[in-house]
Amino acid sequence: MNRQENSTYTVFLETYGCQMNVYDTSAMHGILDRDGFRRTADLTEADVILLNTCSVREHAEHRVMSRVGELRNRLAKHTDRRVIIGICGCMAERLGEELIANGSKVDLAVGVDQYDLLPSMLFQLLNGIDRQKSAAVGHRSDVHYVAPPEAYPQNNSHLVTIHKGCDYRCTYCIVPETRGPQREKSPDVILSEIQRVVASGGEEITLLGQNVTAYHWEGTLNFAGLLRQAARLDGIKRIRFLTGHPRDMTDELLHTIAAESKVCPALHVPLQSGSDRILRRMKRLHDRDEYLTMVQKAKTWIPEVTFSSDFIVGFPGESERDFRDTLEVLRTVEYDQVFSFKYSERPGTPAARLADDVPLVEKKHRLAKLMAVQQEVWFKIASAQIGQSWRGIVEDRARRPENAWRMRTANNRKVLLQNADVAVGDEVEARIVGFEHSTFKGEPLTNSR
Ligand code: 5AD
Ligand code: SF4
Repeated sequence: MNRQENSTYTVFLETYGCQMNVYDTSAMHGILDRDGFRRTADLTEADVILLNTCSVREHAEHRVMSRVGELRNRLAKHTDRRVIIGICGCMAERLGEELIANGSKVDLAVGVDQYDLLPSMLFQLLNGIDRQKSAAVGHRSDVHYVAPPEAYPQNNSHLVTIHKGCDYRCTYCIVPETRGPQREKSPDVILSEIQRVVASGGEEITLLGQNVTAYHWEGTLNFAGLLRQAARLDGIKRIRFLTGHPRDMTDELLHTIAAESKVCPALHVPLQSGSDRILRRMKRLHDRDEYLTMVQKAKTWIPEVTFSSDFIVGFPGESERDFRDTLEVLRTVEYDQVFSFKYSERPGTPAARLADDVPLVEKKHRLAKLMAVQQEVWFKIASAQIGQSWRGIVEDRARRPENAWRMRTANNRKVLLQNADVAVGDEVEARIVGFEHSTFKGEPLTNSR
C-alpha cells in the first residue's frame, strides 16, 4: 500500500546542539505532521528516526555516530521492520553524501535548508520502488522555516528564529559553513509568528539566531528596533534573546533593553577568551577592553542585569598567560553562568590551519580551572542575594522535593519555591533564603494570580 495519501508512518525525532536545532525540530514536526506522519516518543514503534545534529565540536559528531550504531543494534533486537534512520541539521550539511555512503547505517541526510523535502524523501524510502538512500544539502536564501504554534512548548519560552546563518568569520567556527550566510526573516513574519504564539496562549518568547544582535532588515530596522516592535505587541509579556555578539551590543541596544520593560535583562554575550592576542587570532572583531566597557555600561544602565558567556580553552597558541587573562575577566564581569569548551579543531575552518598545540591534558586542566574559578565567583554572587525579594514566573513543578515549584526571574535566575500554593504561569514575589548550585531557594511573599 502506498501510504502517501493517508500515512500512518510514525517518526521519532531526537535533538542535539543548540536552540536553533530545538526550533528546527519543531519546524520539522510541523512539516511532517502536514503530510500525515505521526509523532512518537517511543523508539520501538518508529518507522523513521531522525537525529537533528550539531557539528560545533568533534565530540558532538562522534556522539551522534555512536548513537546511530546503538539504535541499529537496539532495533535489530526488537523488530524485523525496516526502520529509516536519517541525519538532519549541521552534520548533514557538513558531511552530506558521506553519511549515506556504502555500508553506512544512515539512510538519509537532510541539511538545514532542505526540510521541506523530508516528506517526499521519506515516502521514497518507505514506499519507493528503488528505495534509494538520499542526501539533500546546500543553502537556499529564500527558505525560512516557521514552527507551527502547536509545536511550541506550553509554559516556558517560545522560540522564534529571526534569522539564520552567520556572516562573521570567527576562525574556530564551523557555523558559517553549516548554517550558511546570514539571512533575515522579515519583521512581518517575525511579528506575526509572535502573535501566533500569543494566540496559542504563550506569554514569553526567545528571539533566536546565531547572532541576533546583528539583525538588520533592508537598512531600516536593526535588532534594537525589532525589540521595540516586538515589545509593542499586545499579550506578550517577556522577550528574551540568544545569542548576542559583543561587537553589536551598541549603546542604542543597551538603552533599548533598559527602557523596554518586557525585554529581559539577561545578556548572553560570549567572550570566548579574555586575551587580546587570542581574540585577534579568533577574529572576534573586538578587544577585551571594549567588552568590559560594554559590560560596565550595561551594569550602569540596565537594572538587575545579569551576564552569561561561552569560553573556549586551549585555542591554538593559547599560553598560560592568555588563559590567566580569561580567568581575570571571569572575576571582573561576574557572570551568572559560563559555558566552557575545550577547543576542537573543525575541518575547513581558518583555525584548522593553525597548529592545535595545546595538549589535551592541558586543555582539560584549563577547563577544570575555569570552572573552579567560576564556581568561586558564583558563590560570591549567590551569597550576596540572600534576603532579597524577587519577582518571577512559575514555570513548572520541581522534580523534587514534593510540592516544590520552579520559578524563573526576568534576569534568568532559577528559584525553587517550597511548600508554595502556586500554579504554572503565576507571577510570584519570593524572598531568597538560600541556594544550591545555580538554583536559589525562595519563600513566596505574594502571588498575583
Ligand atoms: N571548539 C570548541 N568550542 C567551540 N565553540 C564553537 N566552535 C568551537 C570549537 N571549534 C563554542 C563557542 C560557541 C559555542 C556555541 O560553542 O564557545 O560560543
Ligand atoms: Fe551546533 Fe552551531 Fe549547528 Fe547549533 S548551529 S547545531 S551549535 S553547529
